[in-house]
Amino acid sequence: MKIVHTIAELRQHLHDFRKPAFVPSMGNLHDGHLALVRQARPLGDITLASIFVNRLQFAPHEDFDTYPRTFEADCAKLADAGCDLVFAPNEKEMYPEPQGYKVHPPAELADLLEGHFRPGFFIGVSTVVMKLFSCVFGATPGGVALFGKKDYQQLMVIRHMVRQFVLPIDIVAGETQRAPDGLALSSRNGYLSATERQEAVQLSITLKALAGEALASSNLPADREALEERAQLTLARRGWRPDYLTVRRRSDLQPPDAADVAPGKLVVLGAAKIGGTRLIDNLEI
Ligand code: PAF
Repeated sequence: MKIVHTIAELRQHLHDFRKPAFVPSMGNLHDGHLALVRQARPLGDITLASIFVNRLQFAPHEDFDTYPRTFEADCAKLADAGCDLVFAPNEKEMYPEPQGYKVHPPAELADLLEGHFRPGFFIGVSTVVMKLFSCVFGATPGGVALFGKKDYQQLMVIRHMVRQFVLPIDIVAGETQRAPDGLALSSRNGYLSATERQEAVQLSITLKALAGEALASSNLPADREALEERAQLTLARRGWRPDYLTVRRRSDLQPPDAADVAPGKLVVLGAAKIGGTRLIDNLEI
């Protein structure tokens, strides 16, 4: 596995390939990332991953400085999963001058849920992903990029961006990987104390219960808010600080109408803090 740190080296290396399969990451890799790398392998003629902790997507009070940097371990895992190339730029390489041009996703997609609780987050994500796409696919006719469904809204924002800018990139979704107890794998799980780790699975348990109640409701548009409030209260009573637990339409993450209450059309999404750690999860229903 080759490791490159500059855009010039990356492009030089990709010059002879026609269809890279690309897994962007911020490092501190877990089995969710590695599953994406394994999924990527048959989709392109070279499999590459990036490791870059993107300051633009962190608010000043968030964990940019403490975000775990585990470069050597990450590279060993990537090599094991069959990755051919790692692009690991430093901040100076990615942002040699302040990033004045930014991608602003439309408010109706990016200012709700995660975007509501993390203002500017999707501007930071879209901007770095656009830039990473330019670094990677600028050297080839196009390719494939893979994103995990755990970051459901991020996946939607990226798909939308690729469609609107007509980028020659197929966006492929990877299923959420879970620990044996059901907790969605996330780099931030590493922040949890042993007791918090035991409790953490309650987020997916509560989302599952909310999904069941949503499907059982004979009038979901009318019942939805009460069901969501109850789910949030369930977690709050256990000591969580929920940001949202909600039932949405998969197509645009808006509250569902009666016509959306059908198999394959809904998703429940949640974000909540346990101790100092904010976790997110979702379930397609
Ligand atoms: O999901 C992530 O790890 C990040 O948001 C991404 C897509 C690598 C952009 O920094």
